[in-house]
Amino acid sequence: MSAIIASDHRHLELRVLRYNPQDVDATPAFQSYHLEEADAMTLFIALNEIREQQDPSLQFDFVCRAGICGSCGMLINGKPGLACRTLTADLPAVITLAPLPGFELIADLSVNTGKWMRAMSERLRTWVHMADPEPDIDALEPTMDPDLAQDIYELERCIECGCCIAACGTIQMREGFAGAAGLNKLARLRMDPRDTRSDADVYELVGDENGVFGCMSLLGCEDSCPKDLPLGTQTAWLRRRMLSNAL
Ligand code: SF4
Ligand code: F3S
Ligand code: FES
Repeated sequence: MSAIIASDHRHLELRVLRYNPQDVDATPAFQSYHLEEADAMTLFIALNEIREQQDPSLQFDFVCRAGICGSCGMLINGKPGLACRTLTADLPAVITLAPLPGFELIADLSVNTGKWMRAMSERLRTWVHMADPEPDIDALEPTMDPDLAQDIYELERCIECGCCIAACGTIQMREGFAGAAGLNKLARLRMDPRDTRSDADVYELVGDENGVFGCMSLLGCEDSCPKDLPLGTQTAWLRRRMLSNAL
């Protein structure tokens, strides 16, 4: 006689907002998928299982599956987060997924964060501007104070996932706003002694309502950053530094 083994795993319902802007006949609508939860299941695993076993047309982005590449940002029950770092066990049995707002929609849960990040980086010139634009690459860089290097490294942990942008009310109202990701990059460069630009130079880039004066300290960025970057503190520091040194 075979024993009946009851599964103690939950039944999950994933409600996914589906829309393909390339399809002229399409309209945005939620589609529900049902599956059994597995041990240590992440949203990445759940979505892959759905795509492999139920619906190959479902679109979403993943590369690293380890919280490094920043590709898998999405709205998870209304809050931006990384699908590969989100355990279904930490969510209710009904999970609503939608694409990150503020970015060009590719389809379903896939958005073009790269296009936004590149445009922001070009606008804010978020690279180290050295005195010598063609330094001798065989020469050793001057040493940097280890504590300062550590502080700079902390801010460089941004993976450009876009969660802070999706969580910011200002950017939803003002398209040109640099957002916490942009202001964080400039704060990092202001700390870096290799960047020889003056505060006045940087003030030209962010001394307006699309820069440091656009932030209304809503702090959705900091609440949503999967790398726990101190985004509100950095923006406030940049604003104070700009005001005291650039004017
Ligand atoms: Fe993502 Fe944080 Fe970088 Fe914003 S600052 S893009 S939330 S890692
Ligand atoms: Fe937006 Fe963060 Fe400022 S959510 S308003 S950038 S504190
Ligand atoms: Fe790379 Fe999630 S897949 S951060």
